[in-house]
Amino acid sequence: MAEETTAIETVTCTIDGMEMTVPKGTRIIDAAAMAGIDAPHYCYHPGLSSPAQCRMCLVEVEKVPKLVPACTGQVADGNVIRTQSENALKAREGVLEFYMVNHPLDCPVCDQAGECKLQDYISAEGPAMGRLKEPKRVLGRDDFGGDVLFYADRCVMCTRCVRFMREVAQDERLGVVQRGSRNVIDTFFDEGLDGNLWADNIVDICPVGALVSKDFLHKARAWDLDRTPSVCPNCTQGCNIRLETRDNQVMRIKPRPNEEVNSHWMCDFGRLNYQWINRGGRIEAPLVRDASGRLSPVSWSEALTKLADALRGSRAGAKAVVSPFMANEDIGALRRVMEQVGGGSGVFRVETGEEVTLPGFPSLKLRTDRAANVHGAEAFGFTRTGDADGNGGIADLSSFDGTLFVLGDELADVDATFGASAGLFVYVGHFLAPAARNAHFVLPATTFAEMEGTFTNVQRRVQRFWPALQVPGMARPAWQILGVLLAGIGDEGAPGTAADAFHALGSVRPEFGTLQWADLGAGGALLPQPAAVGAGTQG
Ligand code: SF4
Ligand code: SF4
Ligand code: FES
Repeated sequence: MAEETTAIETVTCTIDGMEMTVPKGTRIIDAAAMAGIDAPHYCYHPGLSSPAQCRMCLVEVEKVPKLVPACTGQVADGNVIRTQSENALKAREGVLEFYMVNHPLDCPVCDQAGECKLQDYISAEGPAMGRLKEPKRVLGRDDFGGDVLFYADRCVMCTRCVRFMREVAQDERLGVVQRGSRNVIDTFFDEGLDGNLWADNIVDICPVGALVSKDFLHKARAWDLDRTPSVCPNCTQGCNIRLETRDNQVMRIKPRPNEEVNSHWMCDFGRLNYQWINRGGRIEAPLVRDASGRLSPVSWSEALTKLADALRGSRAGAKAVVSPFMANEDIGALRRVMEQVGGGSGVFRVETGEEVTLPGFPSLKLRTDRAANVHGAEAFGFTRTGDADGNGGIADLSSFDGTLFVLGDELADVDATFGASAGLFVYVGHFLAPAARNAHFVLPATTFAEMEGTFTNVQRRVQRFWPALQVPGMARPAWQILGVLLAGIGDEGAPGTAADAFHALGSVRPEFGTLQWADLGAGGALLPQPAAVGAGTQG
């Protein structure tokens, strides 16, 4: 039987002189965006309904007598649309003059300066001078609860925040009170936004500095921040994010749109749980236990040559503890090293908590497992152990006398004798906890924020992240350390790039071999089913 195909009905229009064909029903603002034209807007947001109330997006459509709001007007066949016509610009200039009637000139102290839509549009097409002589309205600021502060004077009443709480969070805690020029956004209850896990998204979507984050308040100026695409490490959802950094520290985290994973949103738990990425006191050089039993810093080549020699003499299998905060490339490389030394069992530990769904985009949940790569660890044959706090479960390793690997797990809960009886104890990680001091080799690894790599999320979507911070001292990605080691004990070349390390994963888990690094892009790609799910997966 011939396959049925449904042809998409299209219309052809011209926007600012550019002819383009778009699906029927496309809004003018979206068609303009496809042509690379950013029509000014406040109330429109692609993740929310369009009330067309800010009048900032007015454009001229030939043969239509009145200006059309681009956020609700749909493109019709033959439309000639001008976003920069004299009429459109004059109307928008008037709209901006009204916005500035009460807006304070707060830019020097406003957190939004540098990424504020009022600042941008005023400088692009606003009037040179306002005509108002009267004093501006002063409303002051309000603590909305949670992480959110409200600077009422700066609000342009676009209602994005109200619509987010109503339509996406489906927890209507914000509303517009009063009427006309007196209207203002307010919370209804004493607790305000307290207890809603998604409330900080309103800070992202506020087009001006009316809603700001308490955590970020006056910490950095927008233009001083570097922005790196990444993946939230704090649960198995794997929300797409940007790490915003300055002075080699993460200053804040913002969501990055991905309709398959998190739409435009992320949870407050993930957003505000970044201080651990900035933690100092890292291991900065490879340490090797010398003849006197002391751990001494050595060069990478000395450490890895000595370790390869030690591993060549111990082919009776190994045991391992890995952290689900480590990348697929790191964990897969450890699995390959273990296979080279005769195989062995491995475990991981993860903190768990309550699952919380975003009702308006229900495939987005703060997941029970509070680490990004639980599913990656399971794919490489590591099994869950320990309690709900991510502690315990590895007591049996204390008396293990074979080859013991620890990758990324901080061993914070185990006593100082852990690993002391191991024939060979290799610690690849970030901090020298008392138990890690028993290792024969301590090898400093980078965190996800300092390297390129991938995590596998709850949907089995493999997603890339990029380096946002400089590495401390001589730390290297664990895939690189273990790759050089593999080359030393086997007969293959060491991976030179994260792409090489990713492609090597196909030799341990065939489903990874079906994905190409270049195809992962910024949005990731799904691992084929069936999933090799380990015992006790909780999501
Ligand atoms: S607080 Fe911000 S998002 Fe809410 S209505 Fe005002 S300007 Fe819009
Ligand atoms: S849902 Fe999970 S991945 Fe998304 S922001 Fe929250 S903690 Fe991070
Ligand atoms: S964006 Fe169109 S009216 Fe607000």
